Amino acid sequence: MTKNIYISSDHGGYELKEKIITFLNNNNNIKVNNLGTNSHESVDYPDFCKNLVTELKKNDNSIGVLVCGTGIGMSIAANRYNHIRGALCTNENMARLSRKHNNANVLILGGRTTSFKCAKNMLEIFLNTEFEFGRHTQRLEKI
Ligand code: RB5
Repeated sequence: MTKNIYISSDHGGYELKEKIITFLNNNNNIKVNNLGTNSHESVDYPDFCKNLVTELKKNDNSIGVLVCGTGIGMSIAANRYNHIRGALCTNENMARLSRKHNNANVLILGGRTTSFKCAKNMLEIFLNTEFEFGRHTQRLEKI
């Protein structure tokens, strides 16, 4: 089954976003939807966060990737939306646990703080790890 992935960034995450798109486009089972920004020109990350969360609202089972300079701004902005469980991850274990324990639907990355190699590894793990349910379900229900 084809996985639908939405991705957006501000200028601080633009370069990493472009590399991630090229990487994901090599996978036939993934459809990547690029929601901008599409240059180094300075923009405001909440606007590009909003583009993505709006699409995820319409497409329930989709996955999102947000990138800004550190990932922090995108993380703060994204988690203000009720349907978003955004995980700012800096290593593979965080990416794995964000799926297993938090059922994260958005992977958030820092374009100026995370290497492409690490981002690629985290993305592969994020896309291939299932939520564990059980005790974690009741915790998510309390949020
Ligand atoms: C933009 O310079 C930078 O502040 C932004 O990309 C992000 O890191 C904010 O959290």
